[in-house]
Amino acid sequence: MCGIVGYIGPREAYPIIITGLKRQEYRGYDSTGVALINNEGLQVYKKKGKVSELENALLGKPLSAHIGIGHTRWATHGEPSDVNAHPHESNSGKLAIIHNGIIENYALIKQDLQKKGYTFKSETDTEVLVNFIEDIQKNTQCPLEEAVRMAMKRVAGAYVILLLDVDHPDTIIAARKGSPLVIGIGKGEHFLGSDATPMLEYTKEVVYVNDYEIAIIKADELVLKNLGNEKQTPYIISLDMELAAIEKGGFDHFMLKEINEQPSTIYDCLRGRLDAKAGTITMKGIEDNIHALTSAKRIIIIACGTSWHAGLEAEYIIEELCRIPVEVEYASEFRYRNPVINKDDVIIAISQSGETADTIVAIEKAKEHGAFIFGIVNVVGSSISRISNAGAYTHAGPEIGVASTKAFTAQLAVLMMIALKIGKEKGTLELKRYMELLNELENIPEKVQSILRNADALKPIASKYKNAINALYLGRGYNFPIALEGALKLKEISYIHAEGYPAAEMKHGPIALVDNQLPVIFVATHDEYHSKIVSNIQEIKARKGKVIAIITEGDAIIPSMADDVFFVPPANELVAPLLSVVPLQLLSYYIGVDKGCDVDKPRNLAKSVTVE
Ligand code: M6R
Repeated sequence: MCGIVGYIGPREAYPIIITGLKRQEYRGYDSTGVALINNEGLQVYKKKGKVSELENALLGKPLSAHIGIGHTRWATHGEPSDVNAHPHESNSGKLAIIHNGIIENYALIKQDLQKKGYTFKSETDTEVLVNFIEDIQKNTQCPLEEAVRMAMKRVAGAYVILLLDVDHPDTIIAARKGSPLVIGIGKGEHFLGSDATPMLEYTKEVVYVNDYEIAIIKADELVLKNLGNEKQTPYIISLDMELAAIEKGGFDHFMLKEINEQPSTIYDCLRGRLDAKAGTITMKGIEDNIHALTSAKRIIIIACGTSWHAGLEAEYIIEELCRIPVEVEYASEFRYRNPVINKDDVIIAISQSGETADTIVAIEKAKEHGAFIFGIVNVVGSSISRISNAGAYTHAGPEIGVASTKAFTAQLAVLMMIALKIGKEKGTLELKRYMELLNELENIPEKVQSILRNADALKPIASKYKNAINALYLGRGYNFPIALEGALKLKEISYIHAEGYPAAEMKHGPIALVDNQLPVIFVATHDEYHSKIVSNIQEIKARKGKVIAIITEGDAIIPSMADDVFFVPPANELVAPLLSVVPLQLLSYYIGVDKGCDVDKPRNLAKSVTVE
C-alpha cells in the first residue's frame, strides 16, 4: 500500500527512483511523485496516474540530482489527484515527505496547525505530518531528526516516512512504525525501498529497519536510532534474489509468468524438505517446536484474502491428518473482537507479503495472550517473519502480480508438509498413508506442468463467458476453499461479480441466481464426494445454468453433463487442490485479458495491504 523509494550517493538519483517506483508499482498505482534536491533547490514533481505517465510528463525537466525520494500511491485520505499525490511539502517549502501508511490522529493535529496559521493544499494526512514536523522544529529549534522523533511519539497509526530538507541536501531522514522499509548498502551510497526490488542491481546487502527506529542516511553513513535517541546496530543481511525474478521474462504479464512458474515454485518449496523415498520431511521451524505443535489443543489460523483460503484448506487437512481442532479467522476480524486465546493454542499466520497490517496486529494480539505464533510467509525478512516465534518460508520468489497465484500454491505445499509432519509425529497418521501422501506431493510439480501445457484449452471458455455479469464457483470438501479462491481471482482480475460456495449449500440460497446466463464453475476433481457433486451439477443444469467443470482425467460422467470441461491429472484428494486451482487462475487471467483489464494492477487493489 504505497511504494516508497529513495537514493543518496554519486549516481543520478532520478533514474534509480523511477525504475524503483515501477518495481514498487504493485503496491499502489493511482498517482506518483518524486522530490529531488539539486543546485536549483528542492524539486517536487507529482501526478495522478501510473509511474510511466509521470515519467513522460517530466521529459526535459532539470532532473539531475544525487539525492531524491519517490512515491507510488494507493489512496487513503483524499481521492487520487495531482494535489493529493506525494511528495508533500511543508508550508516553508523546505521539507518534502513521502509516506506509506495512515496517521490516525491527523485531524486533531491539523486543527492545531490551522489555528497556528498553517494552510493545506491536499486532503492527506501526509501533508499534516510534514507540517507537524516542521512546526516542532520551528518551536524547539532542534535538528530535523529530533523533530521526527518527537512527532513519532505523538502520532498514532502505522507508517514509514522519508524526508528531504533543502537545507541539508546530504541527508535523508526515514522513520518506521508498522510499514516496511529496506535500506540497501552500497559503496558510498544508500538505496531505500518498501522492499528490496529498487536496489537489486546495485547491492545485495540490506538492512530492514525496525519499528520505532529513525534512520539518518547520508551517502557514506547510516545511523539508526530508537525513540530514546540511542544508536542501534544495523543488522545487515545478504539478499538471495536476482533481478530476473522481478522481470516479466517474456510473458505478457507478471500474473501469467507467476502462474507458469508454479511447477518450479512448488518444487522449490518442497526441495530440501520433502524426501518421499526416505519418508522424511525436514522443516527446522517445525522440528524445533514439535512439542508445542503436537500438543496444541487448538490451532487458530489467521490470514487475509488468498492466504485465508490457504488457511481454510489447511483446516480440512490438519483436522483430517492430525486430529487437532482448527479455526480459521480473518485477521481483520480477529484483531477487533475479543477472541478466546489460550496458552496452549498455536497460531498459524499466513501471508505472502509478510506486511499485511491486519495480520500483523492480529499476531500481536495473540502474542499478548501468550500464544505461540508460527508464520508462513513468502517475503524473506518481512515483518511477520520477524515477529513470529517460528515459521517456514514458502520460497515462491517475488510475486509481483497483484492477484496472488504462485504464493497460494506454495502456501498449500507448506501447510500440507506441516500437517504430514505433525500427523506422523502425533501418531494420528498411519505410515502407509503418510508415505502415499509424500509421494503424491512430490509428483505435484510435474502434474501442474501438464496442466499448463494444456492452458490454451481454457481460452475459448474464457471468451465464451467473458461478458457474464455474475459467476458462481462451487466445490465440496477439499475443493471448497478452491471454489472461494477461484471466485476471488475472477473478481479481482475481470471485475465480474463472483461468489464461491460449498456446492451443497447452493440450494439454500444462491440457486435463486441460476438462469441460462449464469456460468457456474464446479471444482469437481475425483474424490469421495464425486457422486454428490454430480447431483449438484444436475441441479444447475435443470435450471439451465451453464456448467464449466474442472474434473479429473478419465471422468466419464461429468463431460456429458457440463457445457465445458477442463481436465487435471489424477491425484489424491488432499493434494488435488494444488492442481484444481491452476485452471481457475488461468481462466480468470484469460477473461481479464480478453476484457482488456489491467490484470497485473487491477483497479483499487494493492499487493501489500499495509493499512487496516
Ligand atoms: O500478503 P498477504 O498474503 O498477507 O495478502 C493478503 C491479501 O491481501 C491477498 O491475498 C489478496 O487477497 C490478494 N490480492 C489475492 O489475490
